[in-house]
Amino acid sequence: MPQPQTRRGRWRRAASLGLATTLAASTLAACGGSGGTTLTWYINPDSGGQDAVAKNCSTKDYTIKTQVLPQDAGQQRVQLARRLAAKDSGIDIMSIDPPYTAEFANAGFLAELPDSLRRTVREQDFDGAVKAATWKDKIVVAPLWSNVQILWYRKSFVEKAGLDMSKPVTWDQVIKAASENGGKVAVQANKYEGYAVWINALISGAGGELASDTAKGDDATIDVNSPAGKKAASIIAELASSKAAPADLSVAQEGQAGATFGSPQGAFLVNWTYIWTNYDETQPEVKKDLGYAPYPESVAGEDSEPPFGGIGVGVSKYSDHVEDSLKAVACITNPENQGVNAELTGNMPASSAGYDYKPLKKIYPQDLLDLWEQSLQRAAPRTVSPYWSDISGALQSTWHPPSAVNPDTTPEKSAQFIRDVLKQKKLL
Ligand SMILES: *[C@@H]1O[C@H](CO)[C@@H](O)[C@H](O)[C@H]1NC(C)=O
Ligand SMILES: *[C@@H]1O[C@H](CO)[C@@H](O)[C@H](O)[C@H]1NC(C)=O
Repeated sequence: MPQPQTRRGRWRRAASLGLATTLAASTLAACGGSGGTTLTWYINPDSGGQDAVAKNCSTKDYTIKTQVLPQDAGQQRVQLARRLAAKDSGIDIMSIDPPYTAEFANAGFLAELPDSLRRTVREQDFDGAVKAATWKDKIVVAPLWSNVQILWYRKSFVEKAGLDMSKPVTWDQVIKAASENGGKVAVQANKYEGYAVWINALISGAGGELASDTAKGDDATIDVNSPAGKKAASIIAELASSKAAPADLSVAQEGQAGATFGSPQGAFLVNWTYIWTNYDETQPEVKKDLGYAPYPESVAGEDSEPPFGGIGVGVSKYSDHVEDSLKAVACITNPENQGVNAELTGNMPASSAGYDYKPLKKIYPQDLLDLWEQSLQRAAPRTVSPYWSDISGALQSTWHPPSAVNPDTTPEKSAQFIRDVLKQKKLL
């Protein structure tokens, strides 16, 4: 699959990078307490949280250096999977997006976590984080941060619309309030992973799921064609055909969704925790007007199950330093370092103990921290399956664009298409 040309280029670049980091590491060792072996940690891009944690967890025996993966989660998966499939020993530690954890574990790419670390994870971290870190009844990565979506709103807008935000609201209410008052509802509905995240949350909130029996691999049961799937489709169709639909709905990734929310038509936005600090520098007037509430309900009176995201840290089975890497992972994911990472990135801790990290209370109001913790207790991870990328891709192609979603046909068509893709009868 990889063209020899680019591949050679990549190796050459990797080699020169390796040289630069060896130099950096030896300088570090000379002036600090860390040294010894170099452990390479592949991280997702962030604003310095994982780097700070890598420093905190370097010891006199090993220095942890980081390598940054691409921004896009799908690209992160491809880059890691290619190297792991080639048994590349250049990866020791990896930050893995939850939807791909099962795939990597199932492929045998991950070194087994010691019992002590598995016990710590089970006792320490949120249930949703543990669930997303588990494949075939075994915890295979240690959660570093957990993210959850809530409903962000403009306080001035809901006041004008007369919507009571002291109780949980439904998608119907949100769409109606926005339509009738010249506002927009910002969601992620471009043809990408973020759209699958939204669909999954709508279905979970209506009491359903995308797939079950996922341990059966490509024989998993696909549950999209259900009352919950129809409810999800009707919410998407309702928004897409309403005045509350942003003009760029079908290409809206989070960045675009953010622009809509910051504009004069801004009313509602579903997005992750870091929105709280998103407007600090660029639009302080939006920050002042920023309200927050639980993720909207799919069905009135039934608790929503907000999208869950985050990162679990795993060790490559092909690392030459498995034992040291496992020790490093225990440090990287302890509550204090979850807090250090959260303070620097807005990617919140995977445990209640992490939320106790003092500096977080200076950045976030206590009721917002409480809302996140409560939301995390109810959050729905995406289907844990080694075939997630197929399921997600098939879902995206049958539910896009949102304006073509029809509750009577889309769930049925998409269920069939997902089955066909899993069985390799159809290509994505
Ligand atoms: C970890 O990093 C944070 C942020 O850089 C720092 O404040 C803290 O003192 C460090 N802790 C340890 C144990 O090195
Ligand atoms: C919403 O989340 C995404 C990542 O999932 C981020 O890239 C985007 O900037 C966020 N939107 C806003 C308004 O900040």
